[in-house]
Amino acid sequence: MCLTIPAKVIDVAVDTVTIEDGDGVKVVETPFVTGLAVGDWVLHINRLVIRKISPDDACEIIELLESGTPVDTSLVSPAFREDIEALHRGTFGRDNIVRLLSSEGVEQEALLREADTTRRAWIKDFICIHGIIEFSNQCTHDCLYCGLRNEHSAIERYRMTPDEIVETAREAVEEKGYKLLVLQSGEDPTYTDSMLIDIIRRIKSASKVFIFISVGERGYESYRSLKEAGASGVLFRFESSSKGLFKKVHPHGKCLESRFEHLKFFKELGYYVATGSLVGLPGQTLEDIADDILVTKRWANMVSTGPFIPTPGTPLAGSSTADGDLYLKVTAILRLAMHSARIPVVTAYETLTGEEGRSRALKSGANSLMINLTPERYRTLYSIYPDKFYDTESIFVRYGLYKYRESFTMLEERMREEISL
Ligand code: 5AD
Repeated sequence: MCLTIPAKVIDVAVDTVTIEDGDGVKVVETPFVTGLAVGDWVLHINRLVIRKISPDDACEIIELLESGTPVDTSLVSPAFREDIEALHRGTFGRDNIVRLLSSEGVEQEALLREADTTRRAWIKDFICIHGIIEFSNQCTHDCLYCGLRNEHSAIERYRMTPDEIVETAREAVEEKGYKLLVLQSGEDPTYTDSMLIDIIRRIKSASKVFIFISVGERGYESYRSLKEAGASGVLFRFESSSKGLFKKVHPHGKCLESRFEHLKFFKELGYYVATGSLVGLPGQTLEDIADDILVTKRWANMVSTGPFIPTPGTPLAGSSTADGDLYLKVTAILRLAMHSARIPVVTAYETLTGEEGRSRALKSGANSLMINLTPERYRTLYSIYPDKFYDTESIFVRYGLYKYRESFTMLEERMREEISL
């Protein structure tokens, strides 16, 4: 579930090899791989060699994860430097963030590089690969930005059966090596608590996997029982912490207080919380985004913040698409504000920028990917926004997934650390 930086074999013994990577030299065990020779390239986790890879693929991964050219710091202003320092120290407020969000040219580049260096220093070269199964595009809500909104009658609706969901999850874990799966749907009460409980229990009893649920507002009792059934995390955005803006994009029903109440009891229940906001909503100011970053820092173990993309057939269809550079700056600031948080490159950003943008986000503070595992016949129907990016066979998917139990244990240890930070 993690793509690790390749290392070169520099010495071979009976059950161990000595390897060298950007971090230095170490001796690692080789229970899964035989016949290694000096000069071979390998991927390793937890002092175990996981597999041998070709020199070309090793080069490609190193290039993908390699830092950009360092920025000449004499070109940045003392005020910019002070804002960066304030973030590192944890003594920052809205003004520092707004100034960094406004950075351009060499300072913008310096911000992204600083986030990359911070990610490396705190969580090393691990790009974690998680999966998402979108099991229903039915939604009772009418968020103005969303293609799944109830009033959007132009889309074909679907619901996966519990058997289909369980089977998709089984395949993802047992055949592909995923260790963390998000089960996501619109707000769809047709799936009762007892149905979701049953689905979670069946997946957990068949496979060693973390389950995150992303099913919207269901109240305390529901989330308590889903946790008890085996869910480990929730993916639940507050969307915008500005009362005015929240009301504007959710004119019917949803209220910001209820979003915060959910975040509060998720923590009480011991969930691993993935949350964040939408960047680039119409009428949103840099101050609003700065507040969203502060709220995200308050609640998130994993960040889930993404750029807004206007969706045809929704009330915001005519609005502008979020600025991709602004999303990168938000990602970088989140990394500086939350050194060891899990920060995925969100699909909406990949949709805007493709594989190249994904790699740029991974060099701007992000450290994980969320791969779409929704079965093909439903995938295009989960059209929150148009032309959603879909990963086919990237090097991340090819090399970032391990079926070994060790990779589950590693994730377990890391999440335990992250949740108690
Ligand atoms: N553009 C980008 N993200 C969107 N979402 C909904 N509609 C859009 C859109 N048009 C996001 C919301 C929601 C998540 C599942 O999808 O933030 O929480």
